Amino acid sequence: MGVIVPDAIERYLAGLNRSGSEVLDDIARGNAQRGLPLIDAEVGALLRMLATAIDALRILEIGTAIGYSGIWLAGALPPDGSLFTLEIDQDRAREAKQNFTRAGLADRISVIVGDAKLMVAKVAGPFDLIFQDGAKQLYTPLLDRLVSLLRPGGLLVTDNVLWDGEVVPGFLPKPVRDENDTRAIAEYNQRLAAHPDLITATVPLRDGVAISVKRR
Ligand SMILES: C[S@@+](CC[C@H](N)C(=O)[O-])C[C@H]1O[C@@H](n2cnc3c(N)ncnc32)[C@H](O)[C@@H]1O
Repeated sequence: MGVIVPDAIERYLAGLNRSGSEVLDDIARGNAQRGLPLIDAEVGALLRMLATAIDALRILEIGTAIGYSGIWLAGALPPDGSLFTLEIDQDRAREAKQNFTRAGLADRISVIVGDAKLMVAKVAGPFDLIFQDGAKQLYTPLLDRLVSLLRPGGLLVTDNVLWDGEVVPGFLPKPVRDENDTRAIAEYNQRLAAHPDLITATVPLRDGVAISVKRR
């Protein structure tokens, strides 16, 4: 549970949400012990809804981890759609591939193993939707490249933009997160808000999700 949405509301939202996927439920259950920083099912439902609403055919994700958010995203794709997902950690990338196979989605997902800082220069756009959930200190350095990879009308969705409220000075009496990450996210939020090619709204769901549309 996060610190932004009260636990009772998070539980209520979780009670309404149906992933419809045993693999997603299984990954979430396993991660309750393991504690990897995965999105939760409510953010997953938001991603799937957004990708479905814009008829996304090509999606790019930064930060695969073990494939949880990737399954939510790829579940919105038609059989000829594709998700390209970037992960620096080889073991996580391997596990993600296994999870994509278990979910029956491996045919439309390419896991690219490497540093997103280098890999984003190699992937070819345009993308309908980009999900940014990688290293927080790369959010700002990668922003302009990601915007250039989006089609007009496409969506850039960024997770963790409220960072448990720590981007708000004084919100927590004793901040616990890495202050370089906190500074990086606060800077990114300013850049998103001022970006001439984007219109951004932030949803204070879980850890904060920014949804930006590229101007046509
Ligand atoms: C927050 S986790 C992603 C969670 C995943 N999106 C989900 O919700 O299922 C961030 C991931 O980004 C990866 N990562 C960190 N730095 C990276 C980099 N420079 N390039 C690619 N991946 C990176 C980490 O190894 C980690 O698995």
